[in-house]
Amino acid sequence: MLLTFIKYISTYDYFENQTNLKWEIKNLMNICVVGCGYVGLVTAAAFADFGNDVVALDVDKKKIKSLSSGGCPIYEPGLKELLERNRKAKRIRFTTSISSAVHKSEIIFICVATPSKRDGSTDLSQIKVAASQIAKNINNPKIIVNKSTVPIGTGELVEKVINKNLNKPALFDVVSNPEFLREGQAIRDFFEPDRIVIGSNSEIAAAKVKELYKTLKCPVISTDLYSAELIKYASNAFLATKISFINSIANICETTNANIDDIALGLGSDKRIGHDFLQAGLGFGGSCFPKDLQSLLSTSIELKDPLKIIKEVIEQNRIRVPRILNRIIKRIGLSKKPRLYGKTISVLGLAFKPNTDDLREAKSIELCNAILKEGANINTYDPIAMKKAKSILKSKKVNFCKDPYSASKNTDLAIFITEWPEFKQLDLKRLTKNMTNAIIFDGRNIYDVKEMEKLKIEYHSIGRPSYYP
Ligand code: UDX
Repeated sequence: MLLTFIKYISTYDYFENQTNLKWEIKNLMNICVVGCGYVGLVTAAAFADFGNDVVALDVDKKKIKSLSSGGCPIYEPGLKELLERNRKAKRIRFTTSISSAVHKSEIIFICVATPSKRDGSTDLSQIKVAASQIAKNINNPKIIVNKSTVPIGTGELVEKVINKNLNKPALFDVVSNPEFLREGQAIRDFFEPDRIVIGSNSEIAAAKVKELYKTLKCPVISTDLYSAELIKYASNAFLATKISFINSIANICETTNANIDDIALGLGSDKRIGHDFLQAGLGFGGSCFPKDLQSLLSTSIELKDPLKIIKEVIEQNRIRVPRILNRIIKRIGLSKKPRLYGKTISVLGLAFKPNTDDLREAKSIELCNAILKEGANINTYDPIAMKKAKSILKSKKVNFCKDPYSASKNTDLAIFITEWPEFKQLDLKRLTKNMTNAIIFDGRNIYDVKEMEKLKIEYHSIGRPSYYP
């Protein structure tokens, strides 16, 4: 307690006496971002764009070399330009040297990966490595900010790891500042957030981090460390729950011929519910929802208070692909396994959602593997995720095509998995003309049933009546 108090006073004095002068004049900070992955790069580029001096750190030498010469290792609209602008203005640099990066910085953001372990709990090894390396290089007071999505209590763990690895006594505070960036619109989400969450047991440190965001117009929610960590999981779990909920209602629609579009409209028009995340489809994928839900469930089990609701959300999401596969088999399959033997299916869209080439936990991969298991061949197309998909779908029975029309030629059925805007513009008459059977399955409700009636194309979607010409 006394130690904490001393640390509190000293950190305060440091900022009052040494940093605040600079702060008041320039209002800018020296920032280090540990980890040049998705979150790290967006965070580093955005803070540099505010005018701060940012050094971005990664252990991957190849990545750092490429970033230093203007490359961008991930596909994210606007990120390459943002990095380039700030690199040219010398507000951002990239390095593998933690000592220089830590020495120079007042605030250090930890943005490393926190993948799932086999049992669903979170692998914090990269967080621990980052914390211990920061500790070994601390030369003056630092604020260590955790941006990675981490289970409740990780802030304390970071504090412990740092204290254990310090070469000499040093002052530091730990802050939790979770990110809420969506892939495909991460830059916009950073500059126009709904809220900023800052959790810390040190008011001074929290205020300092808050200052970094002062040009953004949104509420800042200040909490303790635990609450900030939990807000992130609760947000993602709630959004995923909305998706599994609407998909469960869509199941009822499919057996009763009710229409999920009308239901989502009626439901979302209640301001307390809202329209967002009520799009029925093949379920959620990506690098966050599946992992974060497992992690939250695992934490709740550890705490002996299992979140059964989250277990069910995961289960409802798991059955999306088997359900559509059964519908496909019912329509064109055989009664005996392999039930799609001799068929060719066109799979349109591979990315887990539009505007990204990310295939992590993508429903497309799960469905393609299930289709292959049932003996069919696949023709596939995605506007930008093909390169990555080729390294995952290695079967000779998967044929990567140059556009949706060639992918559908001579196929028995076409299924849309990702709602790419360009799919909305397709000439569906042209697409179905060269199919063996002109049957469309729409896993993301891209098209109107009425539109298909006009075109006289057999059409099956999620939670809406099927159309047979
Ligand atoms: C999510 C969170 O939104 C973001 O705040 C967090 O920081 C990271 O995780 P992201 O994974 O990029 O972002 O994608 P998001 O746009 O949230 O979509 C997640 C998944 O849900 C996608 O597979 C998407 O297709 C699916 N989804 C989304 C639906 O099935 N229906 C919907 O109505 C909305």
